[in-house]
Formats: sequence, C-alpha cells, structure tokens
Amino acid sequence: MIEKLEKMLICRGEDEERLYAEAKEIKNQTIGNKVYLRGLIEISNICTKDCFYCGIRKSNTETARYALSDEEILEAADFAYTHRFGSIVLQGGERSDREFTERITRLLKEIKKNSNNELGITLSLGEQTEDTYKRWFDAGAHRYLLRIETSNPELYAKIHPNNALHSHATRLKCLERLQRTGYQTGTGVMIGLPFQTITDLANDLLFLQSMDIDMVGMGPYLEHHATPLYQHRHLLLPLEERLRLSIHMVAALRLLMPDINIAATTALQAIQADGREKALEIGANVVMPNITPTTNRTLYKLYENKPGIHEGAAESMRKLEESILKSGCEVAYGAWGDSRHFQSR
Ligand code: 5AD
Repeated sequence: MIEKLEKMLICRGEDEERLYAEAKEIKNQTIGNKVYLRGLIEISNICTKDCFYCGIRKSNTETARYALSDEEILEAADFAYTHRFGSIVLQGGERSDREFTERITRLLKEIKKNSNNELGITLSLGEQTEDTYKRWFDAGAHRYLLRIETSNPELYAKIHPNNALHSHATRLKCLERLQRTGYQTGTGVMIGLPFQTITDLANDLLFLQSMDIDMVGMGPYLEHHATPLYQHRHLLLPLEERLRLSIHMVAALRLLMPDINIAATTALQAIQADGREKALEIGANVVMPNITPTTNRTLYKLYENKPGIHEGAAESMRKLEESILKSGCEVAYGAWGDSRHFQSR
C-alpha cells in the first residue's frame, strides 16, 4: 500500500491525469460536487506555543499581538449567519488559561443563541484538557480541527521545541480526546516541510485512515522569515512542487477516504491564485473564507504572502463563489456540511 501511495504522490503525465480523474469521480459519486463554507474567524494571534515553523510563535517579537473583542467575534459570526455560510471556524493561537477557556464557552453559547442554533461551529484552538473539550462541546461546538502536522514523531521533534508543551504523543492523545467527546474530528499535515520525505507523506495518509478521521485540512508548508525553520529553506522544494504535491495528497486521500470532508486550504491559494480551485476540482469539498475583521487579518500570519489580507469579507465572498463555480462545483449555502463519514458511523 505504501509504495502505491508513494507512486501516486510523485506521478506525472498520464498517471497524474488518471489520479485526478479517479479522485474527482469518486468524490462526485460519493459526496457530490457541493462545496461547504466555513467562515474563518481568527480570534487572536496570542500563542503560548513556540513551533519552529509558525509566524505567530510566542518568541516572534516582530508580530504585534491582538485579540478580537467579544463584539467583533459575535459580529463576524453574525455576518456568516446572515450570508448563509452554514458554519464558522473559531481559530486562534493556543491558550488554555481559565479566563480564555471560559470566555470561549460563553461565546459559543452566545453564537448559538444569536443564530437560533442554526450556525455550525468548528473550533481550532489547539491542545486542551478533556474537560475543556467537553465544556466547549456542551456549549455548542461540534467539530474540532487539530493538525497532527506530521505523523512521523521524529520529524515532529525536528520542527518543534523539545519540551512537554510540544509533544507528538500529547497531540495524538488530544485527537483521541476529541473523538471520545463526540466531536467530528479533523486533522492534517503540512506538506513539503524540510526533512520530510515522500514516505513520510504516504504514511501521513495511512495515519489519517487509521485514525478514522472525519475531516482533513492540509496544505503546503510556507516559510516565514521570523521563524527558526527558515534557516533550512535551502532544503525546500520549489513552491510549484509543494503545490503539486499538496494537490496529489488531496487526490490520494480522496481515494483512500471517499466520504470525509477535505478542505481546500488557504496555503494552496498563497502559492497560486487558483490553488484552492484545483483542490476542489479533484477532491476537496470545503473552503474556509476568511471573515476576520480586515484590520487584524494582517497580524494573523502563520506564513508570509498570506492571500486576501486586505480584502473585505464581501469581496472575498464574491471571488470565492466565482472560483467554486469555475472548478465545476456548487456552493451549498446555509448547510452545516457535516462529514458524511461521521454521519454514517
Ligand atoms: N506554513 C504552512 N502552514 C502553517 N501552519 C502554521 N505555520 C505554517 C507555515 N509556516 C499551519 C499548521 C497549523 C495551522 C493552523 O497552520 O499546520 O496547525
């Protein structure tokens, strides 16, 4: 199996065309051509973690820190609701102090109330205790994204500080906690990291399958100059190759797991304007338009050349709608777009 996946990841020419065609067909047969929207609200770039690849790591003193106010978050959620996005994602730097976790609980309840329980809520707020995951679930969140970043513990150790706060084992435990709590659980990896091999990526795909994951968000690694991993940039594949590899990962994953939700991530668009469309065309079925207030969007930079940071929400929407149609898909307005995989469990 592993060799077959490795071949898929590096194939070219006719084999590549066949991979795309098969992935597209299996997607359309299994879950159809609908694309679900999640309004992405980047609530804060304050982070207790120090991941070597990430622009909002704690030790990056070049970045001004912000946290959206309750009103800003509620307003953004309301924008998603009135524009019939169906669901939102609250994403932010990792914090687990009580003030923070309780604030999230309050906001979740408020968002559910303001939207007559209609807006679906995904959280992407990192590693937390089982108790916190439970409280947030009970307050109305029902999907959670926590990327494993890489399924290879040795590679994980190379791209994170060597301490208990950055442990691959804990990350795995958190994914299990999320599944136990009842969340639709999403994870994913970065593609094209320094020191990463094709075998690592094929193993990542097998990992996603063995974890019986419901949703996946994965995209190319993009270097950020104010991070330690930047010193290894000479090891990186050219950007177009990282993009191509990411698209192959999406197609291969769709073949492995036909009924899960796969996001066409922003990092794809950072390399090529229509990077997300290509992913939608051959296998992805979710996009996460950024609806963070524009003034803060420039500060939430996990990597450089982040696209769309100066666009208003309405402008991003219009562009997105256009690009989804171009990729032969249709926008599913007003739907939660739960993972078919989770539903049929
Ligand atoms: N390039 C690409 N993706 C990144 N992330 C963080 N930093 C980078 C980067 N430099 C991704 C991680 C994290 C998610 C929120 O963003 O996978 O889980």
